[in-house]
Amino acid sequence: MFNVFRLSDFDVKEIQSILDSAQAFADGKKVDYQGQKVVSNLFFEPSTRTHYSFDMAALRLGCKTQNVDVANSSVQKGETLYDTVKLFEAIGSDVIVIRHSQNNYFEDLKGIQVPILNGGDGTGNHPTQSLLDLLTIRQEFGHFEGLKCMIVGDIKHSRVAHTNYEVMTRLGMEVYFSGPEEFAEGQEHYVPFEEMLDQVDIVMLLRVQHERHASLMKLSKEEYHKRYGLTVEKMKKMKETAIIMHPAPFNRGVEIADDVVESEKSRIFKQMKNGVFVRMALIDKALQHG
Ligand code: CP
Repeated sequence: MFNVFRLSDFDVKEIQSILDSAQAFADGKKVDYQGQKVVSNLFFEPSTRTHYSFDMAALRLGCKTQNVDVANSSVQKGETLYDTVKLFEAIGSDVIVIRHSQNNYFEDLKGIQVPILNGGDGTGNHPTQSLLDLLTIRQEFGHFEGLKCMIVGDIKHSRVAHTNYEVMTRLGMEVYFSGPEEFAEGQEHYVPFEEMLDQVDIVMLLRVQHERHASLMKLSKEEYHKRYGLTVEKMKKMKETAIIMHPAPFNRGVEIADDVVESEKSRIFKQMKNGVFVRMALIDKALQHG
């Protein structure tokens, strides 16, 4: 069964092969399942990019999709995740995409006989986000080995930071963290934000995840922007070849200035575009090897 739960389940060769397949879709490869396959999207947490780029990816492959309205489903009557997923297996889904607030929710679903693609689990993993980040980096630099990436912000609550640290390190990149101490996970790899700006190839900004902690942030939005926000002025310190990434959604005027979002160095919308190609590659692989 081809499942994508966490990227640490895939070796470097397999990750490069997924990226090759995503690149082929980016270069115009066509696959058409002629409406014979159904992808079911189950999002138990809010999402715009991941949900609708999975949906777009499935539609581009000629699949049909079900976008489950969890708020009006039997989940509200207490149905467990396992029983909900078992239902979609029973009614004939060919691929199931799941986002859930519980870390490692997929551990409860190991017996399901339909490929599952993880759209994010709590603060744990966001494999498809990392793959689209890697595709964007590979398109930009042509390689991973030796590249320096600084991830800035709410590291502790970010599944993007956790997934990217693990996979980028395996791919030979140097990963640094920066941000307020209340969002730090230990002090290892921590660097001062502004002093490191001219050293790195990638500045990856993160949103403060207010939904995962009541009021952990000690800084006001204005203070955060001053200390850790990427402004046009600070952007000028970056290497000529360096790029800016953000998984989004972003808070303009907090971790990123309005003018930086669509600046020359920003690859934020390229990341979103690549999200469709990565998800096409994974759905196609799941349907081929399901
Ligand atoms: N990057 C990301 O996961 O965005 P969504 O929460 O909108 O899916």
